[in-house]
Amino acid sequence: MTYTPEMLASIKTVEATRNQRLNQKYPSMSLEERQKVLDDFHPDFITAGMRAIRVGASQGDRTPLELAEVLEGRPHIDADFDLSQPEFETDVLIVGGGGAGASAALLAHENGAKVTLVTKLRFGDANTMMAQGGIQAADRPEDSPAIHYLDVIGGGHFDNYPDLVEALVKDAPLVIKWLEELGVMFDKLPDGTMMEEHGGGTSRKRMHSSRDYSGAEIMRTLRDEVRNRPEINVIEFCPAVELVLDEKGQVAGAVLKNIETERYFYAKAKAVVLATGGSGRLHYQGFPTTNHYGATGDGIVLAYRAGAKLAFLDTMQYHPTGAAYPDQILGQLVTEKVRGLGAQPVNMRGEQFVYPLEPRDVESAAFIRECKEHKLGIITPSGQPGVWLDTPMINQIHGPGMIEKALPAMVRQYKRFSIDMTQLPILVYPTLHYQNGGVHMDAQCFSNIPGLFLAGEVSGGVHGRNRLMGNSLLDVCVFGRRAGRSAAEYVASAAPGKPTLQHLVAWKEALDEAGINGAVKSPVLLPSYTRKA
Ligand code: FUM
Repeated sequence: MTYTPEMLASIKTVEATRNQRLNQKYPSMSLEERQKVLDDFHPDFITAGMRAIRVGASQGDRTPLELAEVLEGRPHIDADFDLSQPEFETDVLIVGGGGAGASAALLAHENGAKVTLVTKLRFGDANTMMAQGGIQAADRPEDSPAIHYLDVIGGGHFDNYPDLVEALVKDAPLVIKWLEELGVMFDKLPDGTMMEEHGGGTSRKRMHSSRDYSGAEIMRTLRDEVRNRPEINVIEFCPAVELVLDEKGQVAGAVLKNIETERYFYAKAKAVVLATGGSGRLHYQGFPTTNHYGATGDGIVLAYRAGAKLAFLDTMQYHPTGAAYPDQILGQLVTEKVRGLGAQPVNMRGEQFVYPLEPRDVESAAFIRECKEHKLGIITPSGQPGVWLDTPMINQIHGPGMIEKALPAMVRQYKRFSIDMTQLPILVYPTLHYQNGGVHMDAQCFSNIPGLFLAGEVSGGVHGRNRLMGNSLLDVCVFGRRAGRSAAEYVASAAPGKPTLQHLVAWKEALDEAGINGAVKSPVLLPSYTRKA
């Protein structure tokens, strides 16, 4: 697979303008210009793709159609499911085997709790593993958590919950130290100091990376650490399908499903940490996604049915640079680090049309405008629009070999299809990447349900209406650690009463009252296109 003759002809114009673009700084947009392009082109603002939730604690809130459907779903089990014989008992049940779940397990264990971590697929099958570009932390003399705070709030459209942002930026330097002590191999300069770059919307270079597989490196390390502590019980292929409460509404564990045997069973616990990640596999508005196979929004469904409040679920993140060609990798992540290193987005005429590092929502909306309104995108043989990302600029800016050194995973991904991104630009278009909102929590990760804690992408509030690059790997570590510690402290004095699923009775009544018939079974656990056995 290489480029078509039409694409190669367009690439000639990109090459022809490269030298001139190299010496020209494209201006970033004013706040008004940003708002205009968002209003007109960002999927969050497409009215037909959104609706109000009809039942539950956040009834009336606007959210994508596909998410509303699973939030209003019917349970896998009935309220009379037998809870008399728990399969096992633990203090803290962690649901989710990504970076947030692993961090929570480590801190809950260190704080004296008996910990069981359950995960839908394999331990590490998570968005953390797929994160590429890096993790933010203000740990240089010219930077500070206060400056990081301002960047996060600005990127989030000033709507973020301030106490969560404060926790994120203040814990960040400590998290980098913690990760390095556990064994993460961060990129370093010859003098041994951290190599740090810009991401979109950052005013300082604070992106720490491990080439372009930062998430895989962090997940490898956290998973090894959990595996090295035999007291932490890890159970794979067993997602949670329902939370169990007691008669006072406190958490008393969860019902899990063994997806190999299809058997449901009760796991008794004094506290549950939901670390189930995002929901890209619900493919809002038909977008492809960067997300891992199990990202189907399970945690928000469970928490919502049990009475938790949601925050910012009307805002999803569409990463500007999903692969648009070849079809085999449609929607897969082309890390923002590519633009951080100097590659410019250009249209079919080789013109730069946007500052490369606008906040992600603005950058994505500008790409969509270039294709839909200006009609200056490139159309692939299968009809997919895209814009060029002029990758050969990176070696021109930094010297030969930089792309190969800084972006080995990207280079390999394109080589599989005989595309040499060191020589030719690559075609990109926005792809569904992240759930900006989620379940409401406070800075110590408590939800409004006693004994239910949140960590990572399932939670909402820290990123406001738009997350900046590198704050997701940070989020999973900061709030994973906090949730683990909070849950361990909570279970020291928690005494849940008789377990019950009575909330399902109330849920069914609410569905009936709202006239919601034939609701889907949720959480859906796997995408709709899963091959059936
Ligand atoms: O572009 C990226 O590497 C993605 C990073 C992130 O979402 O934080």
